[in-house]
Amino acid sequence: MLKVSSVTRIFGQKAAVDNVSFEIDRAAFVGVIGRSGAGKSTLLRMMNRLTDASSGEISFEGRNVLTLQGAAKRAWQGQCAMIFQQFNLVPRMDVASNVLHGLLNQRSTFATMFNLWSDADITRAMQILDRLGIAEQAPKRAEALSGGQQQRVAIARALMQDPKVILADEPIASLDPMNAQVVMDALRRIHEEDGRMVIANLHTLDTARRYCDRVIGMRDGRVVFDGTPDQLTTGVARDIYGADASFNESATSTAITGPRDAAYADAMLA
Ligand SMILES: Nc1ncnc2c1ncn2[C@@H]1O[C@H](COP(=O)(O)OP(=O)(O)OP(=O)(O)O)[C@@H](O)[C@H]1O
Ligand SMILES: [Mg+2]
Repeated sequence: MLKVSSVTRIFGQKAAVDNVSFEIDRAAFVGVIGRSGAGKSTLLRMMNRLTDASSGEISFEGRNVLTLQGAAKRAWQGQCAMIFQQFNLVPRMDVASNVLHGLLNQRSTFATMFNLWSDADITRAMQILDRLGIAEQAPKRAEALSGGQQQRVAIARALMQDPKVILADEPIASLDPMNAQVVMDALRRIHEEDGRMVIANLHTLDTARRYCDRVIGMRDGRVVFDGTPDQLTTGVARDIYGADASFNESATSTAITGPRDAAYADAMLA
C-alpha cells in the first residue's frame, strides 16, 4: 500500500531524514518513535507533502505521491489526513464548522467563505462527532473545549475527508494521561472499524506498545528498528533513544495503564 524508498530530507548540512525505506502492506496502525530531532515529524510531513523530500520516493497504491502537483496533490492530501499535537483548530469558530472544514479540499473557496454547507455535510459532521462522543459540543467554540475534546474535533475534521491514511504527529503530547488514552482509543477504534491506516509519531514507548501493530524506531534520521511491540524490548528502546545503561523507561511513559501494559510487564520480567 505505502512504500517509502530511500527518502532523504536535508536541511542545510544536516539530513533530518536519512535514506529511509520501509513498506506498509496493509492498513496497519504504525507508530514512529525516537528522541526529539530524530526526524519523525519531517517523515510524516513529507508523506503529506507539507515538506518536500530532497530525494527518494513515497508511493501509495503504486503511485509516487512526491511528484504530484496541483489538484492531484490536493487530492492526495485529502486522502492522508493530518492530525497535529496542537490540534490546529480555528479557536473562535464553533466545533461543527471546524469539522466541516475537513471538506476544504473538496469545496470552492466561495462556499467555504460563506459556510454554505449542505444538509448532508452537516448531518455527516454530526454523525462523526457523535461517534467520537462529543456531539453535544457541536455549537461551542473550539477554544472552550478541553484538550482531549479538541483533539477529538481534529480527528472528526480528519474523518470528514474520509481519508485512507491518518497521519498523527504526536497527537497526545499535549494531553494529560486520561485524555491521551481517550484520544488513542478513538484512533485505534477508527483504525479497526474503518480499516484506515494510521501512522502516528509517539513520544512514549508504552503508548507505542499498547496501540500499535508495528513500531518504527528512528535515530538521527535513520530507521534503527522496525518490528512488533513484542520485539521492542528495553534494550532495543535504549538503542533507539540513544540512551546509556541508566535509561529509564518511565521517562518515556505517559503512564497509560491497561491490560496490554500488564501483559508486557510480565513478559519483561520473565
Ligand atoms: N524547517 C526546518 N529547517 C531546518 N531544520 C529543520 C526543519 N525542520 C526540522 N529540522 C531539523 O531536522 C531534524 C529533525 O526534525 P523533526 O522535527 O523531524 O524531528 P522530530 O523527531 O519530529 O522531533 P520532536 O520529537 O522534537 O518533534 C532536527 O534536527 C530539526 O532541527
Ligand atoms: Mg516532531
